[in-house]
Amino acid sequence: MNWVKFVLLGILSSISHAEEMLYLQAGYFVEHFTVPLDHINGDPGLISIKTLLHIGDPNGPLFVYTGNESPIEDFFYTAGWLVYTLGPYYNATVAFIEHRYYGDSLPNQMNYAYLNTDQVLLDFAQIIMQLKPSESTPVVVFGGSYGGMLSAYFRIKFSHLVDGAIASSAPVLEYLDKEGMGLMYQTTQDYFDAYPNCAFNINDGFNILDNFAQNSYTWNGLSSIFQTCSPITSSSQVLALEDWLSNALETMAQLNYPYPTTLNGYTPAFPVNVSCSIIGVYSSPIKNMWRTLQGLAKVAGLVYNSTGTTTCYSPWDNSTSQTSISWGYQICTELMMPQGSYGIPYDMFPSRPYDFNTFNASCYQTYGVYPNPEWYPINYGFTPFYVNSLKNLSNVVFSWGSEDPWQTGCLKEAPNNNVRVIKIFGGAHHLDLRRPNRNDPQSVISARNSEQGLIEQWIGWSG
Ligand SMILES: *[C@@H]1O[C@H](CO)[C@@H](O)[C@H](O)[C@H]1NC(C)=O
Ligand SMILES: *[C@@H]1O[C@H](CO)[C@@H](O)[C@H](O)[C@H]1NC(C)=O
Ligand SMILES: *[C@@H]1O[C@H](CO)[C@@H](O)[C@H](O)[C@H]1NC(C)=O
Ligand SMILES: *[C@@H]1O[C@H](CO)[C@@H](O)[C@H](O)[C@H]1NC(C)=O
Ligand SMILES: *[C@@H]1O[C@H](CO)[C@@H](O)[C@H](O)[C@H]1NC(C)=O
Ligand SMILES: *[C@@H]1O[C@H](CO)[C@@H](O)[C@H](O)[C@H]1NC(C)=O
Repeated sequence: MNWVKFVLLGILSSISHAEEMLYLQAGYFVEHFTVPLDHINGDPGLISIKTLLHIGDPNGPLFVYTGNESPIEDFFYTAGWLVYTLGPYYNATVAFIEHRYYGDSLPNQMNYAYLNTDQVLLDFAQIIMQLKPSESTPVVVFGGSYGGMLSAYFRIKFSHLVDGAIASSAPVLEYLDKEGMGLMYQTTQDYFDAYPNCAFNINDGFNILDNFAQNSYTWNGLSSIFQTCSPITSSSQVLALEDWLSNALETMAQLNYPYPTTLNGYTPAFPVNVSCSIIGVYSSPIKNMWRTLQGLAKVAGLVYNSTGTTTCYSPWDNSTSQTSISWGYQICTELMMPQGSYGIPYDMFPSRPYDFNTFNASCYQTYGVYPNPEWYPINYGFTPFYVNSLKNLSNVVFSWGSEDPWQTGCLKEAPNNNVRVIKIFGGAHHLDLRRPNRNDPQSVISARNSEQGLIEQWIGWSG
């Protein structure tokens, strides 16, 4: 099987016992809602959508997290502001609705024809109708990353069902980055900002790997430094190892929060800075090729061995998780997100130019589909001229972090005065949705205050 290469927006993980404990402790329980598999044409059966639900005051608002491309438990953890601050403060009923074809919300037969954003929004709509205690219950939707795109789309398509949307780090314009340069450019910028030499030292490491890919006598040494589960036997495996490293570095830029994240293992505070410190140690007092690679291996361990229980790595095994398969299908149909890397001077990564035709062909090989780059801008209005197409949109906040690799695709300018764009200076991926922390920078505190003020207007709160 030929896989489609991509980087997940979110941070892929599997449900852990720790996640289950978290939602039970917060007073949430699991509810399954059965909805049509095909909302539009009716028939071919039903699908059960998992929802984490907290019942609040029947006179309070309904807050909904519009789930994205992972099991829903993951977002319960990443949207702690909703769980621990907003929900209790407004005595809200809060629902985290899983995205169909992820987690436990799978159809009986894996027919991907029913995996598209129109069907997903209809799932949300139907469940929201069932959850509203009364006709006048105010509703606000929240989402981060692709979940933020869905929150905004939901407000666009179902303004009669929702009073406002918080769309955090939502890369609605990512498809316009035709060469896929932005993601790795911003990632490089983050490492450069932490310590300028850091980006150059990382680039040195990739150059060494490019070179070693051509020299089979180095492969035993590489296998041992990178603790691969089976020895490297081809230069394409060395290139796959590079991609595996690139993915770890990009992940840490997304997770560059001012405090450790501790759910599935332990990722330190400011993992980009920590990586740069490690790389600094392995680059001095004099540079040595093998030591540079040892530094990169150690850095990769921050992501791939965050639990400390990984015994070896398999950088060239393509993921066969349901999340990867479903997400691969979505970016091969509606959700074009070009991703490439171009080397110095554009970024610190190996040269992997994005080529639409290759992508198009691999989508057909893997899924039997061709991407339709026009459908979702037309469907939701985020064209290059979105200021016009969204001139009547209201009550949506688009927030974005100045350090987030996905900021390329975020709105930087509001289409009108009823939509707000909030820049979070120094923020990584959807920092504002996370549970408030004493190490939060003032920028995210202000962003949350503005968002909360707007939410109060939308729900008619007069506390
Ligand atoms: C929240 O709503 C529930 C259900 O109506 C009620 O029992 C509870 O007292 C309320 N809590 C607060 C803090 O208002
Ligand atoms: C980490 O790097 C950022 C720049 O990206 C800098 O603002 C911050 O102060 C650094 N934090 C620590 C703890 O070194
Ligand atoms: C993962 O971390 C543990 C604990 O630090 C270490 O013993 C183990 O060797 C690491 N695994 C790999 C593949 O480096
Ligand atoms: C992983 O996918 C690549 C294409 O992206 C392919 O060339 C390679 O053979 C695959 N590896 C495995 C182990 O299937
Ligand atoms: C993708 O490839 C197919 C088959 O070659 C072609 O018909 C289609 O036009 C391509 N898509 C785009 C957007 O170019
Ligand atoms: C839509 O926006 C235009 C331009 O801002 C405004 O003149 C018009 O009244 C709006 N229409 C509705 C139905 O809100």
